[in-house]
Amino acid sequence: MAKILSFANQKGGVGKSTICLQMAFYLAENKDLRVLVVDMDVQGNTSSRLAPRSKDDNGNNVYHYSGTRTAELFGAGKLKIQAMKCPAGMDLIHTPRNDPDLAEVEELPLETAENPAKHLAEFAKNYDYVLIDCPPSLGRKLVGALVASTHVVCPIKLSGFAVDGVEDILTTVIGVQQTANKQLELVGIVINDMDRSQSHEKALKQLYDSVPDVLLENRIMHRPPLDTATSEGVPVWSLNYGHVAAREVKAVLAEIQKKVG
Ligand SMILES: Nc1ncnc2c1ncn2[C@@H]1O[C@H](COP(=O)(O)OP(=O)(O)OP(=O)(O)O)[C@@H](O)[C@H]1O
Ligand SMILES: [Mg+2]
Repeated sequence: MAKILSFANQKGGVGKSTICLQMAFYLAENKDLRVLVVDMDVQGNTSSRLAPRSKDDNGNNVYHYSGTRTAELFGAGKLKIQAMKCPAGMDLIHTPRNDPDLAEVEELPLETAENPAKHLAEFAKNYDYVLIDCPPSLGRKLVGALVASTHVVCPIKLSGFAVDGVEDILTTVIGVQQTANKQLELVGIVINDMDRSQSHEKALKQLYDSVPDVLLENRIMHRPPLDTATSEGVPVWSLNYGHVAAREVKAVLAEIQKKVG
């Protein structure tokens, strides 16, 4: 059975796409593993980072998308899914930049959130891991991802309100566990983009006081090479100046993989 992992937090900019993308590279490096990425974010950044690309005459990237779009997973009718093959070895169900069809999913009836799980149930059997990059708001898409998942990973950034943000996403996860998806397992919270400031240390202590059981052991500090690797769509361990970032990221990815089994 495929492990279907959502990278979820209704807060924006916490590292969902970064960790999802690096996890995809990490797993796909193992040629024995079949990996599928589903880009549930209208921004489509994960799709452009993974898809085959070439340069136009002006040196700009041109992305070569093919196969099923994520928006189609929210349809009720029969769907023959075709995933795109990515150069780094994984498959992708993609979202073109600012896909209006995926944005419109939020206007559809609530039951729409159950459709991706129905469509993916059969298709996911072709894979060992399915990684879902979730959007930064609570709506049909995020719920749709969580209903379809076996596991959820929640990246967070520390701030004065770290604990509030954590409560919101944990409430969402528990809501889905109690209703549409009793199998959903919380892998844990990944503390990301941390620095040594007093406010981060204080927020960290607050988190350990309030939700110690759900925090992953490893965490990722503020590491500019990780930002570079993500924007370029490459593994952070492929950069020759990102050793510390690579070590931290790989420790988190290995911990997630171990917990998921
Ligand atoms: N540990 C880190 N060190 C430095 N930069 C980071 C780190 N983690 C993430 N970033 C950068 O922070 C920005 C937000 O990260 P990312 O896009 O992964 O967040 P997100 O949760 O997917 O955002 P959104 O909610 O918009 O989808 C990106 O520019 C990313 O490269
Ligand atoms: Mg994102």
